[in-house]
Amino acid sequence: MEAHQVQLRVALIFLLVNSVLTQQVRLSSDSEWSALLDLRSSLGLRARDWPRKADPCSAWTGITCQNGRVVGITLSGLRRTYLGSRNPRFTVDSLANFTLLASFNSSGFLLKGSIPEWFGRSLSALQLLDLRSCSITGTIPPSLGNLSLLNSLYLSDNLITGIIPPTLGQLPSLSVLNLSQNLFKGSIPPSLSALRNLTNLDLSSNFLSGPIPSGFGSLSSLQFLNLYNNSLTGSIPVQLANLSQLIELDLGFNSLSGSVPEELGRLGSLQKMLIGNNSLEGRLPRSLFLNVTRLQYVVLSWNRFDGNLPDVLWSIPQLNFLDVSGNNLTGVLSNLIASFNATRAMFNLSNNLFYGNLTSTVGKFSSIDLSSNYFEGSVPNNVGTNVVIARNCLRSMLNQRSLEDCEVFYAERGLTFYNDRSLDPTQLPLPEPASNNKKRLTYIMALGESFTFEKILQATDNFSDTNLIKHGHSGDLFRGTLESGFPVVIKRVDLSSFREETYMSELDIFRKTSHPRDIQASSILLDDKYDVRIGSLSEVHVQGGDNHQNVITRLLRMPQ
Ligand SMILES: *[C@@H]1O[C@H](CO)[C@@H](O)[C@H](O)[C@H]1NC(C)=O
Ligand SMILES: *[C@@H]1O[C@H](CO)[C@@H](O)[C@H](O)[C@H]1NC(C)=O
Ligand SMILES: *[C@@H]1O[C@H](CO)[C@@H](O)[C@H](O)[C@H]1NC(C)=O
Ligand SMILES: *[C@@H]1O[C@H](CO)[C@@H](O)[C@H](O)[C@H]1NC(C)=O
Ligand SMILES: *[C@@H]1O[C@H](CO)[C@@H](O)[C@H](O)[C@H]1NC(C)=O
Ligand SMILES: *[C@@H]1O[C@H](CO)[C@@H](O)[C@H](O)[C@H]1NC(C)=O
Ligand SMILES: *[C@@H]1O[C@H](CO)[C@@H](O)[C@H](O)[C@H]1NC(C)=O
Ligand SMILES: *[C@@H]1O[C@H](CO)[C@@H](O)[C@H](O)[C@H]1NC(C)=O
Ligand SMILES: *[C@@H]1O[C@H](CO)[C@@H](O)[C@H](O)[C@H]1NC(C)=O
Ligand SMILES: *[C@@H]1O[C@H](CO)[C@@H](O)[C@H](O)[C@H]1NC(C)=O
Ligand SMILES: *[C@@H]1O[C@H](CO)[C@@H](O)[C@H](O)[C@H]1NC(C)=O
Ligand SMILES: *[C@@H]1O[C@H](CO)[C@@H](O)[C@H](O)[C@H]1NC(C)=O
Repeated sequence: MEAHQVQLRVALIFLLVNSVLTQQVRLSSDSEWSALLDLRSSLGLRARDWPRKADPCSAWTGITCQNGRVVGITLSGLRRTYLGSRNPRFTVDSLANFTLLASFNSSGFLLKGSIPEWFGRSLSALQLLDLRSCSITGTIPPSLGNLSLLNSLYLSDNLITGIIPPTLGQLPSLSVLNLSQNLFKGSIPPSLSALRNLTNLDLSSNFLSGPIPSGFGSLSSLQFLNLYNNSLTGSIPVQLANLSQLIELDLGFNSLSGSVPEELGRLGSLQKMLIGNNSLEGRLPRSLFLNVTRLQYVVLSWNRFDGNLPDVLWSIPQLNFLDVSGNNLTGVLSNLIASFNATRAMFNLSNNLFYGNLTSTVGKFSSIDLSSNYFEGSVPNNVGTNVVIARNCLRSMLNQRSLEDCEVFYAERGLTFYNDRSLDPTQLPLPEPASNNKKRLTYIMALGESFTFEKILQATDNFSDTNLIKHGHSGDLFRGTLESGFPVVIKRVDLSSFREETYMSELDIFRKTSHPRDIQASSILLDDKYDVRIGSLSEVHVQGGDNHQNVITRLLRMPQ
């Protein structure tokens, strides 16, 4: 507490001393005095801000002096006179007369026109040039590369065209280079790799093409690299892994391809990694997330990543934003997420190929989007609006995928699909589809092993009345028990209302999309002469066979 107050006092004294030095000494240079008046009239500034009778060093808004000389001019926040605002041109010729000018900040103050070529020749003391949001047009004069003391160059949010001049790579002191939100085209000059003092490089939202220079790996001071929203191609250079100071990496919304170099896992300072909306592909290597212990914000969305999400992700302590939507990522999440502290986390896993049961952990997330995957089973009780679950294979939920989609997905992977949403052996009889429902469904069992008609007769006790569940609209439903003890429902279908070719061709599709190792949907159980089909209530486990064989029985959904 006390140390705090002491520090505050020290800071105040320092401020006072500072203002004595900078403000109290009157402007001593006549040429600078007349140059200021020139600037005042060429820009059309108001007397209220720059009063003619008063000393500019102490009384003019935005003027900073040192020893009676002008060292800083800030036009931001100033307003022009009515006349001046009618034609807000980039008319600053008199700036050339401030030979000690270290800082020119015009951010937000309109300077329509282009950056004068003489800036690079005449403003040799310049350390800071902030021309953000000034409606500047034209190209960057290559002469800016002569400003050897320049530390910060902000030109973002203008209408600057042309290429990024390679001469900017000659600025030895440059620490901030922000060219974002302009109309730059061409490729990123590899010469920028020489900017060893650069901490902050923002080239986002331009029309840059070509590759990310691999030389960027030698920008050893870099903390923020933003190349978002360009048309960059090629792969992510492995050399970026050398950027040991890097805190934020944004390469999103480009056309980058190839896989993500696992070496990026060396970026021990990284807090944000955004590489979404590219054409990146392949698996996400485990080592990519092994050492990035400070990671908080990860966007990998809308690429072509496949395989599993590396489990090490869940052990990153600060991770609170993860967007992997729009890929082909797969795997069961339940076990992994269970160990994750989700209280503050916002995850988007939508539009992938995740599957399996949901656990109550998903309910703990601040928000989690699981939509458009293949999650099955029932939804945990604690799930509220923080969890988006549309377009999955979830039981008793609205807006889910078709049973057929789900069946095919699980079948292709040799996985057991647990929910037959519409049928449940413990809750007979079956609900008949509403009669006004045009697409009625018949479930037909496809078996990997042949299954004789006799076995069905056995299972249903010869279609006895005691096994009759009900007289259906399109056929009678019978309860049955297979030899294995598994309950089934068998439907006798009136063939005259059923087009054979339709479902045969559907089965054909099913066969093609299925992995040959997992399923041979070769023998479809019909009766000996096509008057019985089996409707299964859920998975039918065929006795014998290995694990794959055990789950090869699939439900197919057919229009009737
Ligand atoms: C700059 O200073 C020179 C003299 O050093 C003077 O001739 C010239 O008019 C000044 N230019 C402006 C724009 O004030
Ligand atoms: C330029 O001035 C504006 C307004 O005072 C300020 O917000 C901004 O930080 C300044 N730019 C730099 C680089 O300091
Ligand atoms: C300034 O830069 C230009 C273009 O990069 C160059 O041709 C010129 O020689 C430089 N002038 C000085 C004084 O350094
Ligand atoms: C660059 O400028 C833009 C627009 O002025 C701003 O949004 C962005 O934060 C800046 N980038 C950096 C890294 O400071
Ligand atoms: C680069 O940055 C370091 C540390 O901030 C500084 O000491 C050095 O003078 C800078 N180099 C140049 C050329 O400005
Ligand atoms: C991408 O950059 C273009 C060009 O600067 C800009 O018009 C657009 O708004 C940017 N898009 C996004 C999503 O930032
Ligand atoms: C940068 O990375 C590359 C490849 O990862 C490596 O060969 C090189 O030695 C590194 N350079 C520096 C300066 O660390
Ligand atoms: C992670 O760090 C460990 C120990 O610091 C190191 O042995 C390993 O090579 C690093 N892995 C990667 C991918 O950088
Ligand atoms: C990324 O791509 C998706 C799908 O094309 C699109 O919906 C989304 O808006 C894009 N994101 C950005 C930041 O442009
Ligand atoms: C996912 O994989 C399928 C099949 O290989 C492919 O058609 C599709 O384009 C992939 N989607 C993405 C986002 O990569
Ligand atoms: C989870 O995170 C919250 C919020 O950061 C924190 O309060 C809580 O202690 C954490 N729980 C565990 C088990 O780490
Ligand atoms: C998913 O839930 C079903 C019951 O709904 C259960 O039989 C099955 O074992 C569960 N699967 C996994 C992988 O936990």
